[in-house]
Amino acid sequence: MVSAWPASGDTLEARVAACLACHGEKGQSAVPDVPSLGAQPAFYLLIQLFMFRERMRVVEVMNRMTQGLSDDDLRSLADTIAKLPSPPPAGDPADPARMERAQALIEQHRCNFCHNRDYSGEQSVPRLAGQREDYLVRALREYKNNTRRAYDASMADVLYLINDEQILDLAYFLARVR
Ligand code: HEC
Ligand code: HEC
Repeated sequence: MVSAWPASGDTLEARVAACLACHGEKGQSAVPDVPSLGAQPAFYLLIQLFMFRERMRVVEVMNRMTQGLSDDDLRSLADTIAKLPSPPPAGDPADPARMERAQALIEQHRCNFCHNRDYSGEQSVPRLAGQREDYLVRALREYKNNTRRAYDASMADVLYLINDEQILDLAYFLARVR
């Protein structure tokens, strides 16, 4: 799929199409471990693309995809992708006990303060609602074990007091929240 990356000088449309082959054309990813990007705040997308290009956030495929792109290229990609529709919540019936456990953790750690009441994110803080559960689990584990470098220390601080079982409940909830 990486070989489908268009040569520099190609149109924004061609670039976006290459991105959405992995991330999903309608804002929702169907690929394991690949995040949905629909309705992510444009500023969050821009920061992460910048961090990929500078290899501050190390993910081989994304480091390659952003190599050689200008700041303006990154901004156009971020602005275009932010306009995709938000991913719908996972459709299977939710286990009420797990949803309740997660909600208590969210109140306790104020996830819904930074990420917004409806988990839609804003500015440098990402949308979480309807994100793929597998990706959420991985992201949270990587903040906790310090393998994901972040824009600021918010998430490392938050996860200090959260264990792996709680990470699984939080991801379960956020993938299903309406
Ligand atoms: C071959 C598949 C693939 C392609 C093509 C691809 N990505 Fe990604 N992208 C990924 C994966 C996998 C991750 C998650 C990395 C991780 O686990 O942290 C990711 C992460 C991201 C993130 C971070 C999302 C978040 O919630 O933090 C953004 C933004 C992004 N990609 C944008 C793009 C853009 C823009 C393009 C096109 C220039 C693109 N991607 C092309 C696979 C791909
Ligand atoms: C003090 C503000 C703050 C609080 C509280 C907070 N977050 Fe975050 N969160 C952020 C910021 C900022 C980022 C982006 C960091 C980066 O650059 O990677 C983030 C990123 C994330 C991501 C990565 C999403 C993606 O698309 O890659 C997840 C998942 C997440 N937070 C979940 C949570 C959960 C669950 C809680 C509560 C247990 C929480 N956050 C509490 C500010 C916060």
